[in-house]
Order: sequence, then C-alpha cells, then structure tokens
Amino acid sequence: MRLPLALVLCLLAAAGWAQAPRTEVPDWLFPRNPPAPANPPPADDTKPIHLPNSDAAFTAAQLLNRFSAPDWHPAAHTPMPEVVAHGRPPKVFACGFCHMPQGQGRPENAPLAGLPAQYIIQQVEDLKSGARRGVAVNGYLPTDLMIELVQSLTAEDLKAAAEYFAAQRMTPRTRVVETVRVRKMDVVGWVYASSTSGATEPLDERLLEMTQAAELHERRADGPLYIAYVPKGSIARGKTLAHAPGTGCVACHGEGLRGVGLIPPLAGRSPTYILRQLLGFKTGARAGATSGPMQAVVAQLQLNNMIDAAAYAGSLQP
Ligand code: HEC
Ligand code: HEC
Repeated sequence: MRLPLALVLCLLAAAGWAQAPRTEVPDWLFPRNPPAPANPPPADDTKPIHLPNSDAAFTAAQLLNRFSAPDWHPAAHTPMPEVVAHGRPPKVFACGFCHMPQGQGRPENAPLAGLPAQYIIQQVEDLKSGARRGVAVNGYLPTDLMIELVQSLTAEDLKAAAEYFAAQRMTPRTRVVETVRVRKMDVVGWVYASSTSGATEPLDERLLEMTQAAELHERRADGPLYIAYVPKGSIARGKTLAHAPGTGCVACHGEGLRGVGLIPPLAGRSPTYILRQLLGFKTGARAGATSGPMQAVVAQLQLNNMIDAAAYAGSLQP
C-alpha cells in the first residue's frame, strides 16, 4: 500500500511531536485566590491596623491601595522614588506595593533588591515588548498586572526605580525545607497558606511555597514569612547541579550564586520565582535580548532538576 506523500509527512511530524519531551508548566506553581464575592463590602478606612514590630499603622483600605506601598519600616531603606512609593496614576501602580518598599518581593511576584540596575531596565523592556511573558498556562493576575503597567511606565521612572532597587540589600524571606508530606493548603493573597483542617498530603515532585502567617502576609508585612517545601535531597542535588564542571550555574551566576556583572544574583531569592523563570526560559515564554545563555542551560533540565536548582539557590545567603 502506498500512502500519499502529504499523509506520510503528516505522520512523521506527529511522531516527532510525540517524541519531543515537552515541559509542562505545572498549575500548582500558581496559587490562585478563590473567586471574590460579587459585591464585597468596601474595605474599612477608619480602623488602624498595626504590626507587633512597627510604629506604623494602615487601614484595611490603605492596605489594598495599589497606589501606595505600605511601609512598615521606613528606616530600613533609603527614601523611595515617587514611582516606587506611589506609582503614577492612573495606570502605573506603585512598584513597592507588590515588590515591597525594600524590594524583597513576595512569592507571587519577584525580589528586586540588589539586582543590577541595567538588568532591571532590560527585564522591564522585555516585559513591555512581549519578549518576556508570563509562563502560567491559564494566566496569573500578579504577572498580568505587571505586564500591563509597564506599557505606561516612562524611561525616567524606570531609571529611578531601577537605581533605587539596585541599591537595596536583599534579605531572604523564605526558608527552604525538605519534606515528604505537607499540610493541605489554602490560598491567601496569591500564595499558599496551611489549611486549618490539619490534614496532610504527599508533596511528590512539587515545590510549594507557603506563608507561615497568613494575616501578616495579607497586611503586606516585611521580613521572613515563608517556607518553601521541596522533596528530600533537593538542596544537595541542586548544589551538585550548580557546581557541575564547566556548565554549572556558578560559572555565570558566580560563587554562592551572588551574581556577576549583569548576570543576576539567585541566592536567597524566592524558590517559586526562580522555578517560574527556569520554566519561562524552557518554554520560550522568556526569550528576551539577554536570555540566550539560559536557553542553552535549561535545554538540559527537566522539572525535577529545576526544583533542585531553585531549592539550592533559595537556601543560600545573598
Ligand atoms: C501588581 C504587582 C506589581 C507591581 C505594581 C509591579 N510589579 Fe514588577 N513584577 C510583578 C510580578 C508578578 C513579577 C514577576 C513576573 C514573572 O512571573 O515573570 C514582576 C517582575 C518584575 C521584574 C523582573 C525581575 C527579575 O528578576 O527579572 C522587574 C525588574 C520588575 N518587576 C520591576 C517593577 C517596577 C520597576 C515596578 C514599578 C514601576 C513594578 N515592577 C511594579 C508584579 C508587580
Ligand atoms: C552561560 C551563563 C549562564 C549559566 C551557566 C547559567 N545562567 Fe542563569 N542566567 C544567565 C543570564 C545571562 C541571565 C539573564 C537572562 C535574561 O536577561 O533574561 C540568567 C538568568 C537566570 C535566572 C532569572 C533570574 C531573575 O532574576 O529573573 C534564573 C532563575 C537563572 N538564571 C538560573 C540559573 C540556574 C539555576 C543555572 C544552573 C542550572 C543557571 N542559571 C546557569 C546566565 C547563565
């Protein structure tokens, strides 16, 4: 029997497709808030809310205002440029609202403290041009908002924000813990929080970063609030990967993964963020001007290797 050429080509293409190992972007990496009630009552704007370790106070309405970064410890950083503290209404939300006044970030966004200013500018330009996109299969509001706001960001504001965040010191917010089982989790403010039920489930091949204090997370508190649960042995395997002769991460990201020149530091940064970016390079969602070296690196990594690398990098001191 002779098959028409077009059909043969079709079958060959289908076979190739089936063989090429495609990296799935797991949905567990993107905790999503439960749907909000249809007509929520307006947030209270009278009652001051406090934190145990701060003299500042904000109302519930202030804590939800994306044009003002709640600053619990103003003495812990240099004065914020206007775009970091208040953004530029109507479209540019305050960078410090999401990334925190000191740029330490939260697991649903990205730590910016101590990144090279030129690297920050390049990434924002890539997000603006579409060369760098979100990697979540079904979208992810925090990233979608970031991409939306950079469309209206001026070069002057970007430069001021980049120089400010580059000058801040990164202090880790997440402890990396190896485990076999985890508490069942709810989602609070785009991150996992341990459910009150007390029930547990196997972690399997996952990296789940959760807040230890859901209320402090919702108040946008600073400081260490998160634990990243990773499979047993991840940190040691990640260390081996990072130091593989020639091609290991330290060859470019430097000793202790503290960054070299324009190559960003990874030490002590959110493992969730690191894993999302590795998947971004792997799937092509992140294909910006300077992403070439990373495309080659991730070509050799599967999801479990990426979890190991993220666990190791997140466990290091910046
Ligand atoms: C609504 C929340 C939000 C606001 C406001 C916001 N960002 Fe982001 N930003 C994010 C998220 C989420 C990401 C991670 C995107 C991803 O998953 O790739 C991000 C990523 C970044 C990155 C990439 C970091 C890296 O290591 O590559 C830079 C740089 C950045 N933001 C700068 C800014 C600046 C400057 C501002 C203020 C003009 C700002 N962001 C305001 C949510 C926000
Ligand atoms: C050949 C040099 C090179 C090697 C080896 C390398 N990287 Fe990178 N990495 C880079 C460059 C350059 C960038 C900036 C990419 C860009 O501009 O988009 C980067 C960016 C990253 C980012 C994004 C950081 C952020 O702030 O968004 C992560 C995560 C990362 N690398 C992890 C790793 C890991 C893990 C390894 C080892 C398995 C590794 N890299 C090995 C050059 C390298």
